[in-house]
Amino acid sequence: SGGADLVIVANRLPVDRIENPDGSPGWRPSPGGLVSALEPVLRANDGIWIGWPGGADGDTAPFEAEGLDLVPISMTPQEIEEFYEGFSNATLWPLYHDVVAKPEFHREWWDSYVTINRRFAERAAEVANEAATVWVHDYQLQLVPAMLRELRPDLRIGFYLHIPFPPAELFQQLPWRRQILEGLLGADLIGFQLSGAAQNFVRLVRQRVGHKTHRDVVYLPDGRTVRAAAFPISIDSAGYEELARSEEVARRATEIRDALGNPRKIFLGVDRLDYTKGIYARLRAFAELVADGHFDVEDAVFVQVATPSREQVEQYRLLRDDIDRLVGRINGDHGQIGRPAIHYLHASYPREEMAAYFRAADIMVVTPLRDGMNLVAKEYVACRFDNEGALVLSEFAGAADELRQAWLINPYDINGMKSALLDAYRADGRELTRRMKAMRKQVMEHDVAAWADKFLTELAAVRPSHGKSVRP
Ligand code: G6P
Repeated sequence: SGGADLVIVANRLPVDRIENPDGSPGWRPSPGGLVSALEPVLRANDGIWIGWPGGADGDTAPFEAEGLDLVPISMTPQEIEEFYEGFSNATLWPLYHDVVAKPEFHREWWDSYVTINRRFAERAAEVANEAATVWVHDYQLQLVPAMLRELRPDLRIGFYLHIPFPPAELFQQLPWRRQILEGLLGADLIGFQLSGAAQNFVRLVRQRVGHKTHRDVVYLPDGRTVRAAAFPISIDSAGYEELARSEEVARRATEIRDALGNPRKIFLGVDRLDYTKGIYARLRAFAELVADGHFDVEDAVFVQVATPSREQVEQYRLLRDDIDRLVGRINGDHGQIGRPAIHYLHASYPREEMAAYFRAADIMVVTPLRDGMNLVAKEYVACRFDNEGALVLSEFAGAADELRQAWLINPYDINGMKSALLDAYRADGRELTRRMKAMRKQVMEHDVAAWADKFLTELAAVRPSHGKSVRP
C-alpha cells in the first residue's frame, strides 16, 4: 500500500489473524475497548493502522481486512512473552491500575519493550506520508513518540493513553520511569481519559525530568511544547443505537430472556476476564442478596459474559480459577434444576449479539476496581433507546465522571454494592427513565467521532506550522 496521511499505531490490530477450520487464514475482531473505539475512527478518516495481529507468525505484508488498511508487526514467541505478557501486562497494566495486582519488574522485559517499541516506530516512519499525522495509542507503546520524532521530525505526533495514568507515588516505583516520560514527550499532544491523569503526568515531568511546565503545557529545552490534556473516549453511539433498534436484535433479546426462563429481572456483566474489572466482588454481592432472601432465581438471574483475555499471564489464570470456583459454589448453593443463579459465559461475541444482551438486561453491572473509561457502560446506555434499564457503575471507572445518574458504587464496599443492586432491582419505571434519559443525552452527544475530532483538532493547534508548509 502507499503511504497515508493518518497513521494509527496501536499494539493490537482491530482484527486477530486466525486459522479457519479448513486451514485457510481468517480474521476475528480483537477484544477490548481500544479497538471498538478506534475502528470507526480509522474508517471515517481513511487511514492505516499499524499493529500486532496476535500470534507469532512472521508475515509483515500490509493487507486489507473488513475494508481497513492494516500493517502487521510481527513478534517472536519470546517477544510476546517479554514485551506483551511481561512488561505490558504484568508490569505496566497492574501498576497503572492502582496496583490492584502486584506489578513485576524484570530487566529483560524492559529490554524487549524497547525493542518492540522501536519496531513500531520504524514501521510508522516507513509508511507515514510527508507531514502526516501519526496517532500512537496506549501503554504498550509509550516510547514510540520520541523514537518516531527522531526518525521523522516532519510528522505531527499524538499519543493517547486509554488506561489510567497513576499518581506519582505509584509511577515512581518504575525503574524506567524517566525513559517512559521522555518517550511520551516525543508527542505534540498527549491525551488522557481524565484531567487528574493529565495533571499527574505534568507534575511528574516537572519533578522527575525537570522541564518547565505551565498548566497543561510542558516547555522543552529545544523550544518545542507538549500539551497534556483530558479527552474522555467514547463509542459509536448512533451505530449501537441503530443496531439495538434492529428487528433481529429485538428477536434475539426475546430469545435470550426466554432461554433464561423469563425471570422478572436480568442482571448483566460484560467484561474482559481481567482482575481490574471487579467481577468477583460483584458476583458475591449478587449471591448474598439471594442468600439474604431478597430474591430467588425466579425473580432474578445474573448473566456474566467474560471475554477470554491474556490467558498466558499468571494473574489472569488465577482469576479464571477463582471465578470458575465462585460461580460453581453460587450455583450449587442457590440454583435449581434447569435454573442456575449465575449464567457464566467465557466467550467473546459479535456486536450484534452484545446489543441483544444489552436490550434483554434490566440491570447492567459495571464494577471495576479501576478502569480508564469502561466503554461497556456507554454501550449499554446507547442501546437503551427505550429509556429503560438501570446502570450500576463503579466510581473508579472513568465513565462515572460522565454517567452521574447511574447507581454509583464503591466496588470495595460489598454492602454498598448490595444496596445499589437492590435499589436498581426495585426502581420503578419513572425513576429508571429519568436516569436513563440523562445518561443517554451524554452518550449520544459525546460519541467517538467527536472525541477523535477534538483530539486531532487540538493536535493540529499544538503543531500548526508543521510539515509541508514550512519546508521548501
Ligand atoms: C484494553 C487496553 C487495550 C487492549 C485491550 C485488550 O482496552 O487499553 O490496549 O488492546 O484492553 O487487551 P489485549 O491485551 O488483548 O490487547
